[in-house]
Amino acid sequence: MSERKMEIKPAEGKLGVMMVGLGAVSTTFVAGVEAVKKEIAKPIGSLTQMGTIRLGKRTEERSPFVKDFVPLAGINDLVFAAWDIFEDSAYEAALNAGVLEKTFLEQVKDELSTLKPMPAVFDQNYVKRLSGTNVKKGKNKKELAKQLMEDIENFKQRNKLDRVVVIWCASTEIFLKSQPVHDTPASFEEGLEKNDPGIAPSMIYAYAALKSGVPFINGAPNLTVDIPAMRELADHMTLPIGGKDFKTGQTLMKTIIAPGLKARLLGLNGWFSTNILGNRDGEVLDDPESFKTKEESKLSVLEYILQPEKYPDLYSDFYHKVRINYYPPRGDNKEGWDNIDIFGWLGYPMQIKIDFLCRDSILAAPIVLDLVLFTDLAMRAGMKGVQEWLSFYFKSPMCAPELYPEHDIFIQLTKLKNTLRFLMGEEPITHLGLEYYQ
Ligand SMILES: NC(=O)c1ccc[n+]([C@@H]2O[C@H](COP(=O)([O-])OP(=O)(O)OC[C@H]3O[C@@H](n4cnc5c(N)ncnc54)[C@H](O)[C@@H]3O)[C@@H](O)[C@H]2O)c1
Repeated sequence: MSERKMEIKPAEGKLGVMMVGLGAVSTTFVAGVEAVKKEIAKPIGSLTQMGTIRLGKRTEERSPFVKDFVPLAGINDLVFAAWDIFEDSAYEAALNAGVLEKTFLEQVKDELSTLKPMPAVFDQNYVKRLSGTNVKKGKNKKELAKQLMEDIENFKQRNKLDRVVVIWCASTEIFLKSQPVHDTPASFEEGLEKNDPGIAPSMIYAYAALKSGVPFINGAPNLTVDIPAMRELADHMTLPIGGKDFKTGQTLMKTIIAPGLKARLLGLNGWFSTNILGNRDGEVLDDPESFKTKEESKLSVLEYILQPEKYPDLYSDFYHKVRINYYPPRGDNKEGWDNIDIFGWLGYPMQIKIDFLCRDSILAAPIVLDLVLFTDLAMRAGMKGVQEWLSFYFKSPMCAPELYPEHDIFIQLTKLKNTLRFLMGEEPITHLGLEYYQ
């Protein structure tokens, strides 16, 4: 054991989970947790619930479950709340989303029916394809932030909660660049007062959460907490923040396959990714301005993994294209095709074709659970600012301004597990292994 065990407050009492957006991802997450609580389903895909972690040398044979190793909140201690621009309960929203079968939803109907969304902070200028009526009114953005802070406080009081995490599972907003109003908490607050257009609704939620002493996680590619003002606020409040964009579907595959190609020094001529999906997310992404936000998030992955500047003979000239096509008949059951043109020894070309019939929200739900539980752990351990060790879960991971993001899923997993070992005073695992042969 190393001496560095961090002081971690125990996971006592209830943990509130406030979801912005009660759509396909949120309802699949909540329905799943309720089903797991009733022992009618298993939390497949969740590292916190099903994963193990090796400790010490291989000969020691110590591999506890992650949930038995680090003090995480139990799923029975989670209490849910949500905001949405539609008034549908989680049950109705889950039926609309069409991810889970009605017969399954019937078994958790009572729990889902009581989860009704609070009015949202919403502005159609930032999500062009949506309009709803369950929306807050206020004279300026500051006033709206205040209303969200009241929601958080009321939720805490009503449910006698010890801690809360806010997670953005709402639609992808239009592409925004970082601008002066995002520079400091002071400039941001002035912007709230003056209704600055550089402040998107997602940022108002993030601000309200941090000001309320609550960490904020961003599951969409919007800038949201990835601006200096929010980083400073999170540091100041000693709160964790994380983002961006849950890593599911095609990008998950990309970050599994690209590190393998690079490991074997196979070159890349082109990677064409296209997919069809027909859920509301697909409809929102059909708007070019929301798609641009998503495209930026999806495109950067290969550049960072393959490092063309270090391997010019292999990766300096590859063509990378990502397309999303809204195709209603498929609903949430996306189909993603990848055509990968690679080359090997003496430059001889080869091709890889992937046809991934995936279910977006089925892949996203366990990510939401893990992020909520790990973020709460980070908060209790006094970890503040960007949680780079949670990059594993994101398409476009946030990191310190002087660093480049780590996209390789295997490095991300090592980083995550070594962080857990570090928190608990165990030695990090380097996989060196020479000592077994000395
Ligand atoms: N499903 C995945 O695998 C996946 C992966 C990565 C990222 N994401 C992102 O997660 C988000 C949710 O995906 P989804 O499939 O659940 O979408 P969805 O359209 O089913 O749900 C989003 C919900 O957010 C609500 N909403 C929009 N703006 C809001 C606001 N300002 N305040 C409160 N509610 C608001 C919408 O009314 C909708 O009910 C999207 O941004 C998506 O891009 C999803």
